[in-house]
Amino acid sequence: MTTASSSSSLHTVDTDSVVTLNDVKVHYPVKEGALQRVTGHVKAVDGVDLSIARGKTLGLVGESGCGKTTLGRVISGLVAPTGGDIWMDLSAQQQLDVNRLRGVNEAEMTAQDRQMWKDLTLNSRLGSMSREKQRQYRRNCQVVFQDAFSSLNPRQLVRDIVGRPLRVHEQTSGAELDKKVIELLERVGLGAEHLLRFPHQFSGGQRQRISIARALALNPEFVILDEPTSALDVSVQAQILNLLVDLQAEMGLTYLFITHDLGVVQHMADHIAVMYLGQIVEYGPTDQVFDSPLHPYSRVLRDSNPSLEGERNRDWELSGTVPNPIEPPHGCRLHPRCPVAAAGCGWSVSDVMSRTEENSPVIFETIKTVDRSDDYNAQINFENEGDAQGFVSQLNGSVINESMHRPPEVRGASVKVSFNEVSDASLEQIQDGRWSSCIRTQERGTLPDLNKSQQVNGKEGQ
Ligand SMILES: Nc1ncnc2c1ncn2[C@@H]1O[C@H](COP(=O)(O)OP(=O)(O)O)[C@@H](O)[C@H]1O
Ligand code: SF4
Ligand SMILES: [Mg+2]
Repeated sequence: MTTASSSSSLHTVDTDSVVTLNDVKVHYPVKEGALQRVTGHVKAVDGVDLSIARGKTLGLVGESGCGKTTLGRVISGLVAPTGGDIWMDLSAQQQLDVNRLRGVNEAEMTAQDRQMWKDLTLNSRLGSMSREKQRQYRRNCQVVFQDAFSSLNPRQLVRDIVGRPLRVHEQTSGAELDKKVIELLERVGLGAEHLLRFPHQFSGGQRQRISIARALALNPEFVILDEPTSALDVSVQAQILNLLVDLQAEMGLTYLFITHDLGVVQHMADHIAVMYLGQIVEYGPTDQVFDSPLHPYSRVLRDSNPSLEGERNRDWELSGTVPNPIEPPHGCRLHPRCPVAAAGCGWSVSDVMSRTEENSPVIFETIKTVDRSDDYNAQINFENEGDAQGFVSQLNGSVINESMHRPPEVRGASVKVSFNEVSDASLEQIQDGRWSSCIRTQERGTLPDLNKSQQVNGKEGQ
């Protein structure tokens, strides 16, 4: 039995969902050495709560490497979750029941609660429901990948590629199979003349149409589109997006549309989930997220996208690169890069080291050793007291200094640093249907203002 997760549960209470995720994690082991020992885990997806409403499009956006494809794969059943629950086909009421029951300790459950949990898991939870139901889920949930060329077998004819799911799952063959394949090809803007051709005989856009036809062969309700237009020219991109919109209207499809390009989903998605370093940082109706983002990361993504209309404030930008997902930053994972990070956003010893290395390399060179008691407390050792003083003065007035438990203390040639521990940021509902994991937005109810004096991206203290 699963107990309550530390993160809030995100659900579309008033709508049925094709899939609902509670605290889902995918941690890939990192193996090293001749013995291939596990030395850590890539936290590709790290505690995701999400619900995808039936008949709607959810846009999943974020920079490359933030975990979008892994999240798509775990939802489709291609990758097993390391933790958390994935539910299929929950009604609005069942989502409320699941959320409530996940918050109840097993010992405190009534007999009725236990029965309800048992019924829910047997009928709807991936991993606990019957094999037949799991098969049904996999058929019902199809994936279209970015790179149609590598996802289509170059040695197979279109008839075999698109017809394979029908042959395998529905035992269709002969003239009947050809007829169904032609119907599917026509549905995506191709025709009978394409039946006996190989993938290399098509353009990129046509190959993506073939992938879409294959995904639709078993008449699914839910399609995961993983960067389906990212490899295509802009004009072809628009044709494929229009095709997807038409197919959704004709067939009542639900889409999870994954993209690194916010511009692509602006007019397609009903809701947007913004992902950063394995977690969802903002979720809400598309137009509202575009008009007034409630997480600094969404704001940066929006303002830095050249394909979006309107004046954008380019001062909203991130510093540095995406941190290592094996050891993500504490507190809010964006804090080392966030233009409005403040004390309380999760600073720790690693930050003071990396910030000194970036901004004051000469001072960084004077560090001899670092004795860490834990992630928040350390003694940093120098050759002499002058170097230790130099290290402390370069931190003066910085947000890092403000987030320390007490000011850095010089003792001879050493400096003691001690940070306030901060719990991990989690999604909270800020306004009706709008969620953000930004601690500062949660406190204020709105996105923090960009105030140059509190920027941490510059070379402070120098
Ligand atoms: N099979 C795998 N084994 C180990 N790490 C992986 C694997 N697949 C992806 N990753 C890592 O997981 C993180 C998320 O990757 P991915 O889901 O592909 O992100 P995105 O689709 O947003 O670019 C990245 O750090 C990536 O290197
Ligand atoms: S909590 Fe908000 S302000 Fe602080 S680092 Fe994260 S996104 Fe930036
Ligand atoms: Mg990807």
